[in-house]
Amino acid sequence: MKFHILTFGCQMNVHDSQWLTSALESRGWEQAPEDEAQVYILNTCSVREKPEQKVYTELGRIAVHLKRDPDIIAAVGGCVGQQVGTGFFNRFPFVKLVFGTDGIANAPDALERLVEGAQERIALLDFVDIYPEREVPCRDVRVEQKSRQAFVNIMQGCDNFCTYCVVPFTRGRQKSRHPEQVLEECRTLVKGGVREITLLGQNVNSFGLDKGGVGVTFAQLLYRVAEIPGLDRLRFTTSHPKDIAPEVIRAFGELDNLCPSLHLPMQAGSDDVLRRMGRKYDSKRYVEIVDGLRAARPNLALTTDLIVAFPGETEEDFEQTMEMVEKVGFESSFSFKYSDRPGVAALKMKPKIAPDVAAERLMRLQNLQNDITRKCLKKLVGTEDDVLVEGKSRKQDEGGFWWRGRDAAGRVVNFRFEGDRDLEGLMVPVRIVEAKKHSLVGKRTGDPW
Ligand code: SAH
Ligand code: SF4
Ligand code: F3S
Repeated sequence: MKFHILTFGCQMNVHDSQWLTSALESRGWEQAPEDEAQVYILNTCSVREKPEQKVYTELGRIAVHLKRDPDIIAAVGGCVGQQVGTGFFNRFPFVKLVFGTDGIANAPDALERLVEGAQERIALLDFVDIYPEREVPCRDVRVEQKSRQAFVNIMQGCDNFCTYCVVPFTRGRQKSRHPEQVLEECRTLVKGGVREITLLGQNVNSFGLDKGGVGVTFAQLLYRVAEIPGLDRLRFTTSHPKDIAPEVIRAFGELDNLCPSLHLPMQAGSDDVLRRMGRKYDSKRYVEIVDGLRAARPNLALTTDLIVAFPGETEEDFEQTMEMVEKVGFESSFSFKYSDRPGVAALKMKPKIAPDVAAERLMRLQNLQNDITRKCLKKLVGTEDDVLVEGKSRKQDEGGFWWRGRDAAGRVVNFRFEGDRDLEGLMVPVRIVEAKKHSLVGKRTGDPW
């Protein structure tokens, strides 16, 4: 069977799609370009209105392929799948499967039953109480792709109910995976050649603090994963500032293979807005955490998420976000206009901010961020680091190749290498010679390893 997966949203979705791909390939299914597929799978995101709208646009586009093959079927999974559920069946008759974020574990079997014609339609929308372990596909595409980087889920769901956020509704309650299962998967990956692991969860800092917990904290898990021989780089995402334990901050000073970067969503700089967002920290506490982190690891690259125009945000509130961004000096940030989501508490909060005001604030914030990003990258010129190569750069010239990879903090670095040796998955020592707007240019200083 030929299938085509489209993925939207966060790294958890990217990871889910990778898993689904390997699970289907291990059943003999084959990935195919969009105009050849018989089965379409959409792994969707509902965090803002725009990505949700995209799902309907994509389904409209897929419907065109019915002319080529009337037996084409589609599956909608992920966060919009969970939220809209069987609502897709009526609007798009060729959608035969909807699956939620816990239901994905059973999606490969369901797809097989559907293509065999055993059933008309299937909905896998139940949330489960404990982390739903998934089958391990016999072929691991992540390693086959030679990237030697892998994501490992450590938990599912979120209990924080920040007042703007749909995630607790689409991913369900927080469920930690058993630490032994996490360690086992990490060991297997490293044995198979993986050298960089990113531990994933909506709020990794509260790992173990739910029904699935067995007394192992996130900090303890981090130390145990870091110990795996052969693991060169360890990352994790995402962290909620209110839950970051002193032991996790200490880990940045003690674990050599823990990468010098942290994504720590701040959302806003105004204490009043933070309170109404239900974030449970204020700007003073946020700065204390940052100071602690930088004391433990002075070269830590901090990145963040920011929301502008939250209901009731005044010009002064917004200015406080600008001030905090400057004070903390985030190396980069994702910033979004507040978007109403179904069922969240902020839906009823007033006044909503006019779209033109929101757009103007977002632009000011992004301009400020661009300046700070430029300064941070410029400071790196002259420094040395290893780059884990991900593939060839887009731009090429003659006599060798340009390669693209990431430094330990996750910044994109392009560098030139004489000859036609394949460098993907190797570490190459470089010196940074130039800073571009969002990336760096390096010059090789040693042999690939
Ligand atoms: N679990 C992660 C965030 C997941 S959602 C965390 O807590 O850090 C990713 C980002 O989307 C959030 O950090 C937030 O900045 C943004 N976001 C979430 N809901 C939003 C909404 N309703 N409108 C605009 N941005 C939103
Ligand atoms: Fe959403 Fe808040 Fe949970 Fe992050 S911590 S997923 S922003 S509810
Ligand atoms: Fe989107 Fe769901 Fe991730 S809403 S951001 S795909 S958790």
